[in-house]
Order: sequence, then structure tokens, then C-alpha cells
Amino acid sequence: MEAPHYIEPLYRPPSEASSLILQVTIGCSWNRCTFCEMYTQPQKKFRFKQHEEIDRELAAVAAAGAPVRRIFLADGDAMTLSFRRLRLIMDSINRHLPNVQRVASYCLPRNIRHKSVEELAELRDMGLSLFYVGCESGDDLVLDRVSKGETFESSLRALRKIKAAGARSSVMILNGMGGKRYSEQHARNSARLMSEAQPEYLSTLVVSFPLGMDRYQAGFNGEFEPLDPPELFQEMLWLLEDLHLEHTIFRSDHASNYLVLKGTLGKDKDKLLDTVRAALERPGSVPLRPEWTRGL
Ligand SMILES: C[S@@+](CC[C@H](N)C(=O)[O-])C[C@H]1O[C@@H](n2cnc3c(N)ncnc32)[C@H](O)[C@@H]1O
Ligand code: SF4
Repeated sequence: MEAPHYIEPLYRPPSEASSLILQVTIGCSWNRCTFCEMYTQPQKKFRFKQHEEIDRELAAVAAAGAPVRRIFLADGDAMTLSFRRLRLIMDSINRHLPNVQRVASYCLPRNIRHKSVEELAELRDMGLSLFYVGCESGDDLVLDRVSKGETFESSLRALRKIKAAGARSSVMILNGMGGKRYSEQHARNSARLMSEAQPEYLSTLVVSFPLGMDRYQAGFNGEFEPLDPPELFQEMLWLLEDLHLEHTIFRSDHASNYLVLKGTLGKDKDKLLDTVRAALERPGSVPLRPEWTRGL
């Protein structure tokens, strides 16, 4: 029997820390976002994994006897697989690991453009019920500058489709990605997108450039000016002010954030706004994550 054979590095959302990572594709089929270096190494060149290999890996996990409750489908956009392939994978999961309660995946809006609500609902019934959608921004200009390949409308359509299929979405928005010049429009349009989509989860990360900013600057004609912490807090204030959410679990606690925020929106909106205002107006009154502990 074969143990899961990973092509590393592996990335998964923080909330999937205890899930079995099932690598069904390698790399990212888009791989053009200028801020993202996660799948740029040669071994991560995009490809599908053979179904037979995936099935053998699931059989090996089952034979090892470890209790598996949650599975995360890797790598960067496993939802690029066809409905037929995803159904085969879900069938293998349910056959080998019948106690699995939740299967999740990253999902680009374009990954489900050609999948119907009925197909997504069938996958949901088989357990594929949570999608992490890297919207990053709701501002079309910023999305274009970073080559996300999506727009406000395409993102909203995908999020609505996920909801209509009875699945849940967890959206990532990237603070600071418009730089100083587009900070306010990035924040306000991202809030508008979230208010229209009403995702079940929303998290914000701070855009960071561990390998340098050259690639990112090219999209901004060299005029991108990163935000300093107070400017990031101001951007968070604009975002929170315009968020009109009914019941969304909000997390801004990723290691890239200076200011840790957690709550349920709308209920905790005023409390979160107070914390951000305090960080902005009374430096030192709210504990911040020291620079050296921040990371991606
Ligand atoms: C591994 S990626 C996969 C997401 C998926 N392909 C998508 O775009 O929806 C997960 C998330 O990491 C975040 N990320 C990637 N590069 C980043 C960077 N340089 N700084 C901060 N966050 C980053 C983005 O929010 C991205 O959506
Ligand atoms: S952010 Fe997502 S879509 Fe963009 S390159 Fe990274 S993994 Fe691919």
C-alpha cells in the first residue's frame, strides 16, 4: 500500500490544520496572481493527479486506521477538476473513509463557472461542503493590477452559486493590496462584495512579499506604495464600516496581521470598530503582533 506522496510545499487554510490533506492536483491552474509565489517552483507546475493514485492513497490511509473526520483537497485550486473527476474523488473518499464529515477545497470563481448549481449540490451531498475563495478584493481596478483574473461580478456570481448549492464559503480579502493610492476603494468595494455575497466566513490577511516586490510593482507601473501599520488599520476601518453582514464569522488573526480581530458580523461590528479605532487613535492601547513574529 502507498502512503500519501506529497509534492511539497503544501499550503492549506489555518482552519484545516487537523484535516487530512489530499493532493488531487499539483500547483495552481491559474498561477498568475502577482502577489502569490506559492506554486511557482518547478515541482509545482500545474498538473492533475491520476485518479487511480488518489484512490490508492485513500485506501492506504483507511488501512492505517487513523480516524479521519475532515479532508482538504490540495493544491491551489482543486475545484478546477471537472464535476466528473470531483464526483469520482468524493466517491472514493466515502468508500474508503465513511466517517469523513467535511471535505473542503480552495475555489477560484472561474473553477465553478461551468459547473451547475445542481452539480455543486450533488458534490455537497457527497460531503464537499466548504470552499475557500480567494476574492482578495472587490475592486476591479485592483484585481486587474494584480492579475487575479476575476472581477467583482465574477466573484459575486461564484459566491452566490456556492450558497445556492447549499455549500459554505470562506472568503479571503487581502489588506494593503491596493497600496496607498487605492486603499479606500479596495476596502469599500471589498466590503460591498461581501455585503452582497453574505459568506459564512470571512478572513483578512495582510499582503506580504517574502520574495520581493518586483513582480507586484510591474502591475502598478512601479508606483505601488505599501501601507504602514496605521494605514492598514485605516483600511480595516473602511472595510468594517461598510460591511453589512448578517451572520459571518470574521477572523483577522492570520500570522500576517499586526492587529488580531475576531468576531461574528454583524453582532460584533461596533466592538471590532472600537478596537481598530483604538489602535489607530491611541497607539499602544491595543497589543499588536511584533514585526518579527509576522509571516505568511
Ligand atoms: C494558497 S492560496 C489559494 C487560493 C485560491 N487559489 C484562490 O485564489 O482562491 C490562499 C490564499 O493565500 C493568500 N496569499 C497568497 N499570497 C499571499 C501574499 N503574498 N500575501 C498575503 N496573502 C497571500 C491569498 O489570500 C490566497 O487566496
Ligand atoms: S492566489 Fe490562488 S489563483 Fe492566485 S496564483 Fe495563488 S493559488 Fe493561484
